[in-house]
Amino acid sequence: MLEKNEIEDLIAIRHHIHQNPELSEQEFATTAFLREKIEALEIEILPSETLKTGFVAQIGSGKPVIALRADIDALPILEKTKLDFASENEGVMHACGHDMHMTSLLGAAKILKSREQELQGTVKLIFQPAEELGTGARDVLAAGLVSDVDAFFGYHNMPTLPAGVIGLREKGVMAAVEQFDVTIIGQGSHAAYPHEGIDPILATSAIVQNLQQIVSRNVPPLEAAVLSVTHVEAGNTWNVLPDTARFEGTIRTFDEKITALTKQRFIEVVENTARAFGVRADIHWIMGSDATYNDPELTAHLFDTTKKWHEATIVPEPSSAGEDFASYRRQAPSVFAFIGSNEVGASGLHFADMTLKDEALSVAVEYYVHTAFAALDYLKK
Ligand code: NI
Repeated sequence: MLEKNEIEDLIAIRHHIHQNPELSEQEFATTAFLREKIEALEIEILPSETLKTGFVAQIGSGKPVIALRADIDALPILEKTKLDFASENEGVMHACGHDMHMTSLLGAAKILKSREQELQGTVKLIFQPAEELGTGARDVLAAGLVSDVDAFFGYHNMPTLPAGVIGLREKGVMAAVEQFDVTIIGQGSHAAYPHEGIDPILATSAIVQNLQQIVSRNVPPLEAAVLSVTHVEAGNTWNVLPDTARFEGTIRTFDEKITALTKQRFIEVVENTARAFGVRADIHWIMGSDATYNDPELTAHLFDTTKKWHEATIVPEPSSAGEDFASYRRQAPSVFAFIGSNEVGASGLHFADMTLKDEALSVAVEYYVHTAFAALDYLKK
């Protein structure tokens, strides 16, 4: 599908993007670079007054309308790969492989544009900002650029799977993410006279322990949920009990009912344990993301069509990582795939020494192109 020199061009583009990573909502140079490439292909870019970074382009016309999505932001990580195209923006790294996602969408754009006459509908290309903040997909939806889309498609590279392997899974594929930050308000005192205050450290210890009963005693055994307290802080010396303590962490679930149950029990356990210790709990929910859910029928169709041109495997279990692609399902059915990008045993996503193999790129390009044709065909029927 791609000529050798076209693959080499894409590899050079990927290396350039990798070398120049930008953080979420600051992807200005990345956006300019991508726009230039898309404009050079004479593909229409949809105007937007609200999207400061990222953009949506479109190929073809009429109904149905499908969208292919790639995210474009990097992470605040100091790269330790020793690649000759390692990040030149110190402390920022494409450690989630979004450089591969956007490069492969550029490659697909070129092919789809050259075959525009064959398209039985419209393909929108979403170069999405701020995935790592969990806000980019919502910003694209709010911008009104994809309100006519009938189905959304995306993928995430998986450096721990062999390069080029395509994995699909029906239903829940990545977790819903909730982030909590709780302040426990007691009353400080001399460590030698604890009865004169209300100890927030003891209360926090009990709350962290009690929270562990939610997954083990409230969530049904065949449903999945994770509740992790990841950061606790209180006090600053050895002989004074502080006024307050604070803890934060995350809840990961795959089903809306379990998300609601876990959150409700979290609030009950925190507030009632706090009451038992005479402290006050101030619970703050940081904006979370939905679970990424693959439409079963669309996924089955895509699995069959993928097997006609490439090896496709069924992903045995969902990932408890989050992904803001989930938000698109609020509007239309969606399918999110995994594409192997290195090998078993390689460093995973978000590691400072994570690397990708270039040979995964052309498979990702083809996945987008085949998916576009297969989806338009499916939706037409
Ligand atoms: Ni990612």
